[in-house]
Amino acid sequence: MNMQPKHTSDITDAEESLKLQQAQSVTDSDSATALAMQNTLLTPRFYTTDFDELDAIDVTPVRAEWDRLIAQMVSDPNKGHFKKNADWDEVDWDGMEPALKKEFIDFLVSSCTAEFSGCVLYKEMKRRGSNSDITQLFQLMARDEARHAGFINDALREAGVSVNLGFLTQKKKYTYFRPKFIYYATYLSEKIGYARYITIFRHLQAHPEHRFHPIFKWFEEWCNDEFSHGEAFALLMKTDPKLTSGMNVWWIKFFLTAVFATMYVRDHQRPVFHKALGVDPDWYAHEVYVKTSALTQQIFPITLDIDNPRWQRGLEKLQKANADLAEAVENKQFFRKLGAQARAGMAFVSLFTIPVKKHKCPDAVLMEPAY
Ligand SMILES: [Fe+2]
Ligand SMILES: [Fe+2]
Repeated sequence: MNMQPKHTSDITDAEESLKLQQAQSVTDSDSATALAMQNTLLTPRFYTTDFDELDAIDVTPVRAEWDRLIAQMVSDPNKGHFKKNADWDEVDWDGMEPALKKEFIDFLVSSCTAEFSGCVLYKEMKRRGSNSDITQLFQLMARDEARHAGFINDALREAGVSVNLGFLTQKKKYTYFRPKFIYYATYLSEKIGYARYITIFRHLQAHPEHRFHPIFKWFEEWCNDEFSHGEAFALLMKTDPKLTSGMNVWWIKFFLTAVFATMYVRDHQRPVFHKALGVDPDWYAHEVYVKTSALTQQIFPITLDIDNPRWQRGLEKLQKANADLAEAVENKQFFRKLGAQARAGMAFVSLFTIPVKKHKCPDAVLMEPAY
């Protein structure tokens, strides 16, 4: 009889994985949980949607590609991967520069919340649905996100920190999004997640001296999971051409702009973390935008013109306004806060009004992770 306790990397059922993570959170870490509880424009949110509408999707128009993708996910190439092994170097948390430690923990907590947010949404869809194609997909994606969150929790536990996932599930506010907005937002967050992880991974492959924590070694397989999740959402959107045409193209533009801009502002809040990685956040943002834009052409008929000089200018203005806003809130300066909010709004409008690049999407959706 195998009495080995299970590890989150082996578990295929998201519910079971979360129970295990809950049981492991021995260290009560109020501040990390408080961080994960935050709901601002820049922090990861929890989503809920119209699950019946999602359940009604018929994947017949994309059946061949669908079956290929699901078969690959069922084969579970990353089972057992998200677990510490001999590659996991000792981390000197106590010796870490305090500013880096703070920003890195903030990064891990925010990543864990984002992974967990996907897990909660996907597992809820699996629970509520009756369409076997849809529930199977969402069960597989919940499995992966639960492993990702579990692995980040493993890393955090070494620093004496843990995010109380049970508390988050019950107490964190859920934002309602119509299914089509879930497709745009989740598809983009999966694809940008892939681009972010692979860009860091390749950079650290070339500059291992900057790898100050072993978790980055796991990013390659990790990003392949996110890549597949993005593929699934691309196929879901392909089932209904209305989702990527007409007025909805404006929504696509809105989500592209919002997701890209949020990443820029959020990353610039962690200067010490990026310096330790040897990554210039402006270079990194541009790299991620280039990759994400190339990928999203599989389903979106437009891409943002990230080489337009107004793009970088707008991002910098937005970032500056956001930094001023945070300072004004902290110092309780009401008028300065209003001014910063207005400037942030204007910067976003300026980004949103840059003309887009149009193109025709291919008939076959699926792509290979090539970066
Ligand atoms: Fe994930
Ligand atoms: Fe994902």
